[in-house]
Amino acid sequence: MSESQTGRPAENRPDRVVIFDTTLRDGEQSPGASMNMAEKLEVARGLALLGVDVIEAGFPIASQGDFEAVRAIATEVAGASVCALARCNDRDIDRAWEAVQFAQKPRIHVFLATSAIHREHKLRMTKEQIIERAVTSVRRAKSVCADVEFSPEDAARTELDFLCEVVQAAIEAGATTVNIPDTVGYATPIQYSKVIRTLIERVPSIGRAVVSTHCHDDLGLATANSLAGVEAGARQIECTINGIGERAGNAALEEVVMALKTRFDYYGLTTGIKTERLYPMSRLLTSMTGLSVQRNKAIVGRNAFAHESGIHQDGMLKERSTYEIMRPEDVGVPRTDLVLGKHSGRHALKDRVAELGHNLSDEQLESLFTDFKALADKKKEVYDDDLLVLIEKYLEHIPAQWSLVGLHTTAGMSLLPTATVSIRRPDGEIAQDAAIGDGPVDAIFKAVERVTGVRANLREFVVRSVTQGKDAQGEVTLELEVESGDRSFRGRAASTDIIEASAQAYVNAVNAIAAHRDRGHVREVVGRPGAGA
Ligand code: KIV
Ligand code: ZN
Repeated sequence: MSESQTGRPAENRPDRVVIFDTTLRDGEQSPGASMNMAEKLEVARGLALLGVDVIEAGFPIASQGDFEAVRAIATEVAGASVCALARCNDRDIDRAWEAVQFAQKPRIHVFLATSAIHREHKLRMTKEQIIERAVTSVRRAKSVCADVEFSPEDAARTELDFLCEVVQAAIEAGATTVNIPDTVGYATPIQYSKVIRTLIERVPSIGRAVVSTHCHDDLGLATANSLAGVEAGARQIECTINGIGERAGNAALEEVVMALKTRFDYYGLTTGIKTERLYPMSRLLTSMTGLSVQRNKAIVGRNAFAHESGIHQDGMLKERSTYEIMRPEDVGVPRTDLVLGKHSGRHALKDRVAELGHNLSDEQLESLFTDFKALADKKKEVYDDDLLVLIEKYLEHIPAQWSLVGLHTTAGMSLLPTATVSIRRPDGEIAQDAAIGDGPVDAIFKAVERVTGVRANLREFVVRSVTQGKDAQGEVTLELEVESGDRSFRGRAASTDIIEASAQAYVNAVNAIAAHRDRGHVREVVGRPGAGA
């Protein structure tokens, strides 16, 4: 039955699970995942295309940068509801509304911790005070925004009777969604489903709100707990792409969605997600954050559809369903890995880029074609992963203030490793300097530091092969730490020469630091949720 036939939005049907994506809020607040405004917008557009129902775009009171990103997403991204997080106080709520008010479908999400441990040690508030604060805040949010979500933080460790009371009061005050966070990833599936079931059975007004899950993965149970919650009657799941999020992360969107789809026979529930966009979305987030997913990650990992054992391969050749419960194409994993060679033309490239989920302008495609030809000259076969690395250049939005224009290194046994770099400065002049290091890469980093004057500690340095084979591109991801260790910036680059990739990645990270400083120091003014509400 269509939306117009039922007279209510599809996401309100009893068999429909609302997908609430918090990649840009809970996900973005985790170490190594921070994004600039342009990157957040790109991710938000991807989420809307994926078909999520709600995008939690950020925590506007946290910083000017967060506020502007939420406002930009609310103004520009259509289709999904756009939600802003706020603690239970007037300033947070007003700021959240200021950020989301122009969204097609705005939502304010207010939260307040309810467990004894948080009440006593963090908030120093009585149960009565908690209820009063929750009610006042939901009412304030409701006075400006029809769609209000309330979260009793650390709900999974809250006394059930008290949780029922708080949830009832929040719904009476106007909450349209009540979210039940397992903030510290402590719950187990049967226990969590009992919490949800109890609320549904005991809270008199529960029928007036959507019950939601929000599970963290500290014990590796986030997906299982979310599904247990849904089985008990919850109809919204809060989750993130690739499962990124505070500490061990949140329930992975791709996992909960594919579990519901693959096991429709069991759950009988649907979502609005276009599952063939899951893999491109996972790749997009990886390129925006630099956080790669592990090889054996369910649904989107490199090995998720690889069959290595002879017995499995034999079974697959006879009948796919012997060892495959989902088809790679259902989640958008490219049909074949081998793409193009040096004789491939513009059309083939354009088609492949579209199949990989990217939408480049004609001008960008033309420039990509030049890069592709240069790469195809160096390596015979250009794989999807090679292409994705080339495409990333067009998704990078950090203005390149410094650019590497020349590099020379010497290294070997009984030699002092040295590097000379030539770098175009922000004023357009080319500067050159040299340094000695523990190895050629260390020498490059020191030389770049001398030219740019940007001092930073190298916190992480990872080289991986983009594809197989001796001629594969090497991708370097590194993380630089600045300003008394509370900020880190990532740089990534790939090349068939890993020394060059290392230099380029370092310069990219320096550009991220420079852009951050130009924005006039965007640092949290109040800390992040979970750090004290
Ligand atoms: O984990 C949590 O409790 C949260 C709340 C802010 C919903 O992220
Ligand atoms: Zn959370």
